[in-house]
Amino acid sequence: MTEEIVKAALGKVTYPGFSKDIVTFGFVKKVNISGTSITVDVEVTSSAPEVAQQIIDEATTELKMVGASEVVININAPKMPREDSSKGKNIAPQVKNFVMVSSGKGGVGKSTTSVNLAIALAQQGLKVGLLDADIYGPNIPRMMGLEGVKPQIEGNKVLPLKAYGVEMMSMGSLMEDGQSLIWRGAMIMKAIEQFLRDILWSELDCLVIDMPPGTGDAQLTLAQSVPVTAGITVTTPQMVSLDDSRRSLDMFQKLNIPIAGIVENMSGFIAPDTGVEYDIFGKGTTQPMADEFKTKIIAEIPIEPSIRTGGDEGKPITFAAPDSESAKRFTQAAASLWASIEKINEDGGVTNEGVQPTTPPGVSACSTGGAPAKEPTHKNHQGCGCD
Ligand SMILES: Nc1ncnc2c1ncn2[C@@H]1O[C@H](COP(=O)(O)OP(=O)(O)O)[C@@H](O)[C@H]1O
Ligand SMILES: [Mg+2]
Repeated sequence: MTEEIVKAALGKVTYPGFSKDIVTFGFVKKVNISGTSITVDVEVTSSAPEVAQQIIDEATTELKMVGASEVVININAPKMPREDSSKGKNIAPQVKNFVMVSSGKGGVGKSTTSVNLAIALAQQGLKVGLLDADIYGPNIPRMMGLEGVKPQIEGNKVLPLKAYGVEMMSMGSLMEDGQSLIWRGAMIMKAIEQFLRDILWSELDCLVIDMPPGTGDAQLTLAQSVPVTAGITVTTPQMVSLDDSRRSLDMFQKLNIPIAGIVENMSGFIAPDTGVEYDIFGKGTTQPMADEFKTKIIAEIPIEPSIRTGGDEGKPITFAAPDSESAKRFTQAAASLWASIEKINEDGGVTNEGVQPTTPPGVSACSTGGAPAKEPTHKNHQGCGCD
């Protein structure tokens, strides 16, 4: 009996519910052959006991057919989603914590921050996902070095891509290159829901979500679909950005999302030749806003040319240059974020019950089902979007 024979036999065992086999999926982790006794370690992504049983039965049958006398199949399945403290609607229950990264406007470094925080959290030993929910400008694939990589689609589910120890999904990975879509309200809601429900995220400690800039349908839909554990706002020190950031912090409050902190990006400049830090836009402008919203600045990230090149080349600074000043600050910010998340959970977690769509009396709910009706706490929301 050889490993080839065993793998060929296991290649006939399809993963329950999918058309591909457990070898192709990469679920077969170890094969031990001793004469005609075979032990196989299989790691699956489903915690359903019937999935494990079906794999054990089929694998045993296939291996006996090629001459095995004794077969032991060890299935390593993720634990059933832990009862955690958060309450309310959650359409991605295998994810324990959700972090919404927002900014008042584009170009302030929201995606850069999301990428580097996600990698820094993973480096701290957590299971992390990164969802690029910026459907208007999905540039996380490029920043993660995954541009042009297409995910595996299984039935109506999609496997996330993986880079730097982080699971990732983006509209950019699902669309053809250069394709653009015009997003209407109902489509945005559907896209956000599908990102949470139809991506085969592992059991994650934390999903970092890079939102479109501003406060709109995407933010509201996310908050209604999952209990968002914490929000982070990215700003630059200039006043215009700060005014917008205030709106973004105000949105967190309206959506009952605890604020884990503010990242002040492009805060000073570190000269690549001398390492000297210069104050360009004026530091310290963010602090009063942090005080106003009873939160803190969790990082001041300088303008560092290697942050931009790292983004363009798909080699994020936290991974590619962990000793750089910016990488250290992202790492500290990630530690601060995680400490906030643990504290929020210890204090009873979050709930999104208060932001669920309400149907006014006498008005029927949207025929599409699940599309939110008018949201009373969100002034600019345009009705249910069932147009
Ligand atoms: N601290 C920084 N130093 C240098 N370049 C940066 C920094 N932060 C962001 N950038 C660059 O600025 C551009 C915009 O950043 P991005 O993260 O895409 O912003 P947003 O997602 O808010 O639109 C990118 O090219 C990025 O690499
Ligand atoms: Mg972006």
